[in-house]
Amino acid sequence: APGKVILFGEHAVVYGATAIAAAVSDLRIFVDLEIFSGDYLYVIFEDILVDGKIFEYQLPINVLKQITSCFNKNSALSPVRPDDSVSNYLSTFLSTAPPQAAQGLQSVIYLTTQILPDLIDKQTDVVYGIKFVVRSVGLPIGAGLGSSAAFSVALAGALIRAALLNNQLDDQLENQLDITNYLSVINEWSYCSEMLIHGKPSGIDNYTSCYGGLVKYVKSDNRFELIDKSKLPQIDILLINTKVPRSTKQLVSNVRELSNRLPRVVEQIVSAIDAISIQFIELIDKQVDIQTFYNQMKELITINHRLLQSLGVSHPSLERSIYLSESLHLASKLTGAGGGGCAITLLDIGDRAIDRTIDDQIVKEGDRQINELKEKLVELLRLESFDSFESSIGGAGIIWYNTN
Ligand code: MEV
Repeated sequence: APGKVILFGEHAVVYGATAIAAAVSDLRIFVDLEIFSGDYLYVIFEDILVDGKIFEYQLPINVLKQITSCFNKNSALSPVRPDDSVSNYLSTFLSTAPPQAAQGLQSVIYLTTQILPDLIDKQTDVVYGIKFVVRSVGLPIGAGLGSSAAFSVALAGALIRAALLNNQLDDQLENQLDITNYLSVINEWSYCSEMLIHGKPSGIDNYTSCYGGLVKYVKSDNRFELIDKSKLPQIDILLINTKVPRSTKQLVSNVRELSNRLPRVVEQIVSAIDAISIQFIELIDKQVDIQTFYNQMKELITINHRLLQSLGVSHPSLERSIYLSESLHLASKLTGAGGGGCAITLLDIGDRAIDRTIDDQIVKEGDRQINELKEKLVELLRLESFDSFESSIGGAGIIWYNTN
């Protein structure tokens, strides 16, 4: 499953504002799931190092069976969100696990007991073990690019596929291994996993990772919707990783505290961010020429960042990287929860040369100029130890692979 960038509306979406996110399909989390004859659950998080070693975890299947019996038994096709008793139980059970792995393990255990309960309970001589290998391909962990959502989606997707292949799902659809039949179930299970990791997220990260493309949150219906990609010009961005670690849960809670202290002020900021997302959707719908699209998107990015800054979710490292982009007349904003993590810089729209205003002069050599600017920016960022990589907006969501 892919990571995501939030183009507009992070944080404000938690308060019901319109938000727009896009999958970055070339940066993904893979979950390999294997059922084997054995008597333990085995988890490997390849990107989490504990004392310099890849993190591995084992749990005897009979302990997993006991945990399963503590939770209500539901159908794998009717996801049940974990309530406080479930998350308290799991966090106590995993209290000795390294903190950087504990929440991911909670998700693995909860989703396995919910989606594959019969496999765990099977009363035959054969005992089944379940092995998960989780690894990132290019997606930085905990950097605001939706790594926990991509993990949650890939985990839910792998479990649903295993349930299908092992005849564990009650009502099997005609074309069983067509993933599109199961996207809404996978999305809802991945939200359950995100709740264990983040508390009560808006759901935009897991929806975008699951369905791919460009996603908007629609306030009036309290739901997410895919934006018609055929209307969208190609949007090229530079992703900048400040490598400053942060916690989404903490940042969301900081904004909540600010809103409790200054409700009227935060309400106005949220409403201004809502207006930014809506203006961006209008920009897509109006099918304006790419020059207008570029100029206006640039303004929207800059204003959205300033508003996020006023919510207190920026960080000196983000400000520095954004300053470097802006010094080259490129618009940039933090993306995701902020507090470190990543920024995005708008590079180009469409495949036609765009005129750029530089030092009050309209510069007309679009293509050559953007390549020069990009190289210069990447170098400036590198000199300050920021990582950066180019990507374009809106790729494929979850994909099933058969590794046999
Ligand atoms: C994190 O990628 C996005 C936030 O808006 C949190 C959320 O939507 O749950 C900061």
